[in-house]
Amino acid sequence: MPGEVQRGLEDVVALESKICFIDGREGRLIYRGYDIRDLAANASFEEVAYLLWYGRLPNATQLAELRGRLEGLRAVPEELLQEIATLPAGADPMDVLRTAVSALAVYEPERSGPGPNAIDGAQHLTAVLPTILGVYHRRRAHLPDLEPRRGLSQAAYLLYALLDREPNELETRAVDVALMLHADHDLNASTFAARVTASTLSDLYSAVTSAVGALKGPLHGGANERVMELLEQIGTVDRVEEVVHGKLARRERIMGFGHRVYKVEDPRATILRTWSRKVGEAKGNLRYYELLQRIAEVVHREKGLYPNLDFYSGSVYALLGVPTDLFTPVFATSRVVGWTAHVLEEYEDLRLIRPVSRYVGPTGLSVVPVSERP
Ligand code: CMC
Repeated sequence: MPGEVQRGLEDVVALESKICFIDGREGRLIYRGYDIRDLAANASFEEVAYLLWYGRLPNATQLAELRGRLEGLRAVPEELLQEIATLPAGADPMDVLRTAVSALAVYEPERSGPGPNAIDGAQHLTAVLPTILGVYHRRRAHLPDLEPRRGLSQAAYLLYALLDREPNELETRAVDVALMLHADHDLNASTFAARVTASTLSDLYSAVTSAVGALKGPLHGGANERVMELLEQIGTVDRVEEVVHGKLARRERIMGFGHRVYKVEDPRATILRTWSRKVGEAKGNLRYYELLQRIAEVVHREKGLYPNLDFYSGSVYALLGVPTDLFTPVFATSRVVGWTAHVLEEYEDLRLIRPVSRYVGPTGLSVVPVSERP
C-alpha cells in the first residue's frame, strides 16, 4: 500500500548508489569516497570524470588515454552541424543543447543502448557538448568557425570553443575546478530524470536529453544565470540591502541560496567563492565578488540561508567573458559526466523506476452524453 506523500520526494531514498554522497548537515560532498575539497585541490576534471565512470582514480597511462579519447571524440557529425546552423540565432542555448543531444543519437546508434558500449556514449557526449555550444555560440556572435585544436584539456577546450581564444593557466584552472564541482550531485533533479529514462531500458542519449531538460529550470541549473541577472539589477554594494529586502518582502526567491540537502553552506560554494575572488583579482575587477559577499551576508542575516554553488559560479564565468545565457549549458558540459555515470550504474542493476501517486480526485462519476453536458 502507498505510504505518506513526500512532496518533491524530499528525503525519499529512491535507490542505492556508489557514486556520490552528500552529508547535508556537515556540508560535505564525496565522489566515490573522495572529498570534493581534496579533488578540487589535487585533481583535474578528466581525473574526476574517470573516477565517476570507473569508480577509481586513473593512473598516468589511464588518464592520458582518457584525455586522448575525449580529444578524439570532439567532432560533431557534419549533418548535425548543418542542423545546428538552421536553429534561430536567438534560441535559448539550453534548447539548442537538448535538441543537439537528442539528434546525436540518430548519428551514433551503435553507442546508444545499454551494454558494454554505453561507456563510449558517455565519453562521446562529454567530449562533444563543448563543441555543440561553441558551434552555436560562435555563429550567433559572428566569431570564426570552430577549428579543431589539439592538446587542450576539457576546461581549456570549452573556453576556446566559446571565446575563440586560448585561456591562460589561471582561467583554465578556474573552469577546471568549476567543472569538477559540477560533475555530480547524487540524485539531483536532472540526474534522477536521466535515471528514470534509463530505467525503462531506453538509450543513453534519451536519458541525457531528459536530463538537459530538467537542468534548464531556474530551481536547478538555471539559477546561475538568474544570479547574474540579480547582480546586474543591484549594480552597487550600497543597493544590496534595499533590493534583497524588497525581494524578501514580496516573498520572491533569491537565486543561488538554499538547497534541498545542505543545511549548512554548500561546500562547492565555499570553493568557488575563493575562485571568484582569485579570478576577480587577476582581472582587476572585484565588483561581482564584493556584491556577492554583501548579498550573502544580508540573505543569511534575514533568512538564515546559505549560498549554493550557483551563487558563485556565474561570477567566474562572467569574468572570463562567457555570456550569461551559456552558464547553464556550461554546467551541463560537466554534469553530463554524473548523468552518464548514473545511467551506467542504472544499466548494471536495472529496475524500472515507477513510483505511485495518492489519488485525490473525484470517484464514481458516470459519463453524460456530450449533448447533455453543461
Ligand atoms: N530565497 C528565499 N527563500 C528561500 C530560498 C531562496 N533562495 N530557498 C528557500 N527559501 C525558503 C522558502 O521560501 C521556504 O520558506 P517558508 O517555509 O517560509 O515558505 C523555505 O526556505 C524552504 O524552502 P523550500 O522551497 O521548501 O525548499 P526546497 O528544498 O524545496 O528548495 C531550492 C530548494 C534549491 C529549490 C530552493 O532553496 C530555491 O528555490 N533556491 C533558489 C534556486 C537555486 O538557487 N537553485 C540552485 C540549487 S543548487 C544547484 C542545483 O541543484 O542546480
